[in-house]
Amino acid sequence: MSRTPSQLVDQKEPGELMAPTPGLSGGVRSPSKHDSGPKHVTGEAVYIDDILEPFGTLHLAPGAATIAHGKIVKMDLSKVRSAPGVVCVLTADDVPGVNDVSPAHTHDDPVLPDGIVQFYGQPVFCVAAETREQARNAAKLAHIEYEELPAVLSIEEALEKQQFVAPPHVMAQGDAVSALARAKHRRSGKMEIGGQDHFYLEGQITFAIPQEDGDVLLHCSTQHPSEVQHNIANVLGRPANAVTVEVRRMGGGFGGKETQASQWAALSAIVAVKTGRPAKMRLDRDDDMVMTGKRHDFIVEYDVGFDDDGRICGLDIQYATNCGFSADLSAAICDRAMFHTDNAYYLGDVEIRSYRCKTNLVSNTAFRGFGGPQGMVAIERIIDEIALTLSRDPLDVRIANYYGINDRNTTPYHMTVEDNVLAELTDEIVASSDYRKRRAEIDAFNADSPVIKRGLSITPVKFGISFTTSFLNQAGALIHIYQDGSVHLNHGGTEMGQGLFIKVAQVVAEEFQIDLDRIKITATNTGKVPNTSATAASSGADMNGMAARDAAITIKNRLIAFAAEKYGVAEAAIRFVPGRVMIGDVADVEFADLVKLAYLARVSLSATGYYATPKIHYDRETASGRPFYYFAYGIACSEVMIDTLTGENKVTRVDICHDVGRSLNPAIDRGQIEGGFIQGMGWLTSEELWWNDAGQLRTHAPSTYKIPACSDRPEDFRLELWSSGRNVEKSIHRSKAVGEPPLMLAISVHRAIADAIASVGNGKVIPMLDTPATPEAVLYAVAGVAKGMIARHHDTIAAAGE
Ligand code: MTE
Ligand code: MOS
Repeated sequence: MSRTPSQLVDQKEPGELMAPTPGLSGGVRSPSKHDSGPKHVTGEAVYIDDILEPFGTLHLAPGAATIAHGKIVKMDLSKVRSAPGVVCVLTADDVPGVNDVSPAHTHDDPVLPDGIVQFYGQPVFCVAAETREQARNAAKLAHIEYEELPAVLSIEEALEKQQFVAPPHVMAQGDAVSALARAKHRRSGKMEIGGQDHFYLEGQITFAIPQEDGDVLLHCSTQHPSEVQHNIANVLGRPANAVTVEVRRMGGGFGGKETQASQWAALSAIVAVKTGRPAKMRLDRDDDMVMTGKRHDFIVEYDVGFDDDGRICGLDIQYATNCGFSADLSAAICDRAMFHTDNAYYLGDVEIRSYRCKTNLVSNTAFRGFGGPQGMVAIERIIDEIALTLSRDPLDVRIANYYGINDRNTTPYHMTVEDNVLAELTDEIVASSDYRKRRAEIDAFNADSPVIKRGLSITPVKFGISFTTSFLNQAGALIHIYQDGSVHLNHGGTEMGQGLFIKVAQVVAEEFQIDLDRIKITATNTGKVPNTSATAASSGADMNGMAARDAAITIKNRLIAFAAEKYGVAEAAIRFVPGRVMIGDVADVEFADLVKLAYLARVSLSATGYYATPKIHYDRETASGRPFYYFAYGIACSEVMIDTLTGENKVTRVDICHDVGRSLNPAIDRGQIEGGFIQGMGWLTSEELWWNDAGQLRTHAPSTYKIPACSDRPEDFRLELWSSGRNVEKSIHRSKAVGEPPLMLAISVHRAIADAIASVGNGKVIPMLDTPATPEAVLYAVAGVAKGMIARHHDTIAAAGE
């Protein structure tokens, strides 16, 4: 008999469970530690480079282009081929199947370029040698002649030439033009938003092991094993079933391994199949930074209309995005920036335009937030400018613009916001951070302090949960129970440090009412669960948790049917309690014993599970629909200090209240919020990517690219999982996705820095602060405000003289 999950509500409605089940170790809501935590710390966790290498393993190194754009006229690789230890050298001609690993079938991501170089540092050939050192040394011996072509290295230039990787896109509600014309106040501006390197600790790596019949097994550090499988099958000219991809864990992905693992997987797979020897490609850190895509940098131009209360009544906003040389995921990323133009605010009549610029730079890709952060950082600056224009507290302007509950609640993509909790979250943070009192204190401090200035800002986050490409919102799982009652758990999600595996295991522990240590967490493998989506869009636990629960329920229902018949009780009288199964008042057996009896009675103890997110739909043609199942919310209050003579800045206190719904695992969720916040802080303050005029990335190592250090963590960091957190939708145990949203809480740091800078001009001049707010950028902005003050002063004198 088959039943749907909802028919099993006799036990516990998943959302009703507020606290961990007593007597159960590691069910949902328990703060179980990351399953690999101790192994991460001791170094025992096996990453791909830790897998023991079989005899004969080859090592690969890429050979990079030294121009940004041009034709390869001659490629002399003879010295490379004859270098010590070299076994084979690949060029585009050696790709047996299709020379493309583009994720969206745009056919613009060659494994190795066939004649045309598209960016400085692009791999143009690849060496396989007995050792990694030999491969790297040999790669330096190539002699390549180019015929250079004009290289487009900036967004402005690409925009001017109308050079795009995907067509421009528009999203609109009402009539922005006439709303702006009618507006009492109006302001326009331009903001530049920098990119970000993922800086995962484990760089890109694939270890390919040849199998029978030209098949291949890939240990690949990827967020998207199914896509790597399909891409590599195409590259090899083989069916998908000839390629198996396995990933136990990544040392961080952050979006950088959503699509960009394929190229390295392809090269190692080609070598493995060609030579019959295992082949490993592990990028050196500098190569990784040069050769793989990053967070997209944006130029945003806006024109906003607002009333005396600072309420926005019209907005015209344009995003021009640096996508790099190929499409990759840029179209969806630019869409997500558009979807988050509103952040938490009702924008009234609005027009949003997006240009996806093609440049001769590395192809940019997913990064935590997937374009959403760039959209949100712009609107938050706009709100601050409105506040300064009207001499009002920015918090009050934010509150005035929040989506309403029953009105003013449609987004620019015509979705009604049904789960808005921002008013409540704001009340919490204003009270817990003591915002009003500190605001007054800081104003007083700044009035007396000519050099050091302090700044304070509260910014909210509303982040849409679901892939905006609706069909991606599906997941699968596989569960076996062995005869001793131990469980083997597998699903399509990948572990990159975010704690997905432990959360899904907790869901299964809860369903069977067995301790977490009875469940074996296993590597993601395309042979076990097929056709999966990337672990991305923060929906890993939402979707794989549901799929695993579905599989568990299938087996559980079989056990219930079996026990009901065996003991002659009604199915409804059978209850799973911690470690045991109560069979009416007839019997009470251990879970493992019931499993054994079921096996002997020939009951299947293995099941697949599946989940497809309900309710969502989106029509991209009309830019309207319900792309998101629900929204994740959070709010942060950041206080900073800047030195107006050096531009240095420091975050001194942060208060966060974040809505994770009813947390599956509060310990993991806290880790995600802290980590996401700090990563966002890095993006907005210290991480700066810089290319020279030749298109060469000069910030390609930690020596020149500054990610936050331990000492950058706010001295006073107060994080609260919102105690009233809830999900109005039937998500897994009513939890909420937490992977990406906290990154955007860091916008409060950027806004606090802008607030400190504004105090230089007593709030009378609007600071022009782009991102990242490096010391240099802060100094420029301070100088701009000071200049503005002098100009105002002259105006006043001139006016008085008249
Ligand atoms: N946390 C860690 N430790 N490492 C990561 O690579 N990636 C982030 C986020 N948190 C990441 C992380 C990104 S970009 C996403 S989309 C989500 O985790 C993906 O996992 P989830 O869907 O299970 O939340
Ligand atoms: Mo996350 S950017 O969706 O991998």
